[in-house]
Amino acid sequence: MTVRYPGRGRRATPVTAVDEVSFELAAGETLALVGESGSGKSSTATAVLGLRRPEGGRVLFDGQDPYRLPERELRLLRPAFQPVFQDPHGSLSPRQHIQDAIAEPLRVQGRWHPVSGPRRVAELLDIVGLAPEHGRRRPHELSGGQCQRAGIARALAGEPRLLVLDEPVSALDPTVRAGVLELLTRLQHERGLAYLFICHDLTLVRDFAHRIAVMRAGRLVETGPVARVLTRPTHSYTRALLDAVPTGVLTEHTHPPRR
Ligand SMILES: Nc1ncnc2c1ncn2[C@@H]1O[C@H](COP(=O)(O)OP(=O)(O)OP(=O)(O)O)[C@@H](O)[C@H]1O
Ligand SMILES: [Mg+2]
Repeated sequence: MTVRYPGRGRRATPVTAVDEVSFELAAGETLALVGESGSGKSSTATAVLGLRRPEGGRVLFDGQDPYRLPERELRLLRPAFQPVFQDPHGSLSPRQHIQDAIAEPLRVQGRWHPVSGPRRVAELLDIVGLAPEHGRRRPHELSGGQCQRAGIARALAGEPRLLVLDEPVSALDPTVRAGVLELLTRLQHERGLAYLFICHDLTLVRDFAHRIAVMRAGRLVETGPVARVLTRPTHSYTRALLDAVPTGVLTEHTHPPRR
């Protein structure tokens, strides 16, 4: 797909943020999208989420192009692909209680029921490691990590198959970060979720992702299994990214492949 933004000003030239990028993502798989700031990672995510129609190319979700579906069918499909963003507090409405934020997808889908609804919300809070009491708070009354867990609970409410994780742990402390990544790993194993994981930190990518796609200036310069790309990159830009990681950090302990 190709994603272009109109330029600013009178004689503005459009910005090609994503330039004929192509990749596949399977159920149960994590594809890490890496690359320097401005390389087009979030723009790719936005198109995958059905939020901005690509100028060229297509997004196929189980063979269906969300952008070609009638509005009503898109509304039913949309819960299947959900975002989790970087800013834990900013991605939830500040006025809304956490339990209402989690309930919202159920209401939107017409699946809310006065008895089973609250039970489902309690269950979702529990799944992400939050207490019922956290549900009665507002985002600013939770820590960053708790907030991110609430965001994940909300994303799970619609029974998603794909989560688009745009730097989901970048704003968190290392210990909190590990807990959230563990939760995501467990959810993936239990539910066969696919993750498009945008991340700057190659050490996290090594431990969390199965495959890597490296973007530079809107183009995909290299994709492959994590172990191969991180040890034997074929593109000079990937090598430069790896050279930016302090010596030894990526090689000092080799994790067994996750599958
Ligand atoms: N709404 C927009 N209007 C115009 N240009 C945009 C818009 N959003 C992004 N861009 C431009 O598109 C390019 C890609 O931006 P994008 O946000 O996708 O990069 P990114 O890889 O996610 O960067 P970062 O790591 O900093 O989040 C950049 O040149 C950016 O300036
Ligand atoms: Mg971004």
